[in-house]
Amino acid sequence: MDVFQAIHGHRSIRSYKSDPVGDSLLTEVLEAGVRASSSGNMQTFSIIVSRDEAMRERLYWPHMEQEMVRQAPLVLTFCADFRRMRKWLRINDAPDNFDDFFAFLVAAVDAILVSQNVALAAEAKGLGICYMGSTLANADQIGEILELPAGVFPVVGFVLGWPDEDPAPRDRLPLEGLLHHETYRDHSDDEIREIYRDRDKAGWDRYMSFPRLRELVEEAGVENLAQIYTVVKYTREGHARYTKNVLDYLKQQGFLKD
Ligand SMILES: Cc1cc2nc3c(=O)[nH]c(=O)nc-3n(C[C@H](O)[C@H](O)[C@H](O)COP(=O)(O)O)c2cc1C
Repeated sequence: MDVFQAIHGHRSIRSYKSDPVGDSLLTEVLEAGVRASSSGNMQTFSIIVSRDEAMRERLYWPHMEQEMVRQAPLVLTFCADFRRMRKWLRINDAPDNFDDFFAFLVAAVDAILVSQNVALAAEAKGLGICYMGSTLANADQIGEILELPAGVFPVVGFVLGWPDEDPAPRDRLPLEGLLHHETYRDHSDDEIREIYRDRDKAGWDRYMSFPRLRELVEEAGVENLAQIYTVVKYTREGHARYTKNVLDYLKQQGFLKD
C-alpha cells in the first residue's frame, strides 16, 4: 500500500477480531515505526507492548472501561523516556541536563511522532488502531500498572489488532481553515461558522446515531455540537482532575520540581 493510500484509509477502529498479531508482523511494524525523526536522534521514547490478557484487563479500568482494551490483542503505550539516555550519560561521565520539564516535552514529542509512524505502518499492513486519551489523563495509574520507573511517562497509547468493523472515514475541517500563509491570520466569527459548517452537522448526526450518546446528550439538554464537546465530553471538572493527575505524576517521575 502506498503511503497516501494508508493515510487516506485511516479510520479509528473500535471493534477487533480475536486473531493475534504475529510477532514477526509486529516487529516489522515497530521497526518501520522507529524510523521516525527524533530530537537529536536521541529517541527519547519507549514503547510498552501489552499482549497479556490479564495485563490488558488491568489496563481496562484506567483506560476508562473502553471495551477495545479487552478485545484487541495488543495495547501499545508510547512513553516519554529520558531514563535510558540519562543512564548512558552517567556511565560516560557526561553532564545530565535532562531532569526538567523541557526534557519531558522533548521526549513527549519523540513519543508522539513514533506512535503515529507505528500507527501508519500498522494500517498499511491492514491492521487497525485507536488512540486512547486515557493514556495521558490517567498517566499515573497506567504508569503504575506498567511499572514505569522515574524518567518515564506514558504520553499516548492505542489498541492494535485486526479490524472487525469497516467504519466510514470521519470528516476533517477544510484545509483552508487549518492553514495560514506566512503569519497567523485570526478568523472572524463568520469564517469560524464556515470552517465548522459541515462538522456541525456531521458531528451532531454521528452523536445522535449512537443510542447511549444520544441519551447523554438529551439528558444534558445541549443543542449543538460545540456544547456536546464542553458540556458532555470535555468538562471543566474532568480537565481539572486530569491536569492534577499529570502534574503530580510529572513530579513523581522527576520531570517537574515542586
Ligand atoms: C490523542 C488521542 C486520543 C484519543 N482518545 C480516544 C479514546 O479514548 N477513545 C476513542 O474511542 N477514540 C479516541 N481517539 C480517536 C479520535 O476520536 C479519532 O481519531 C477522531 O475522532 C477522528 O476519527 P478517525 O481517527 O476515525 O479519523 C483519540 C485520538 C487521539 C489522537
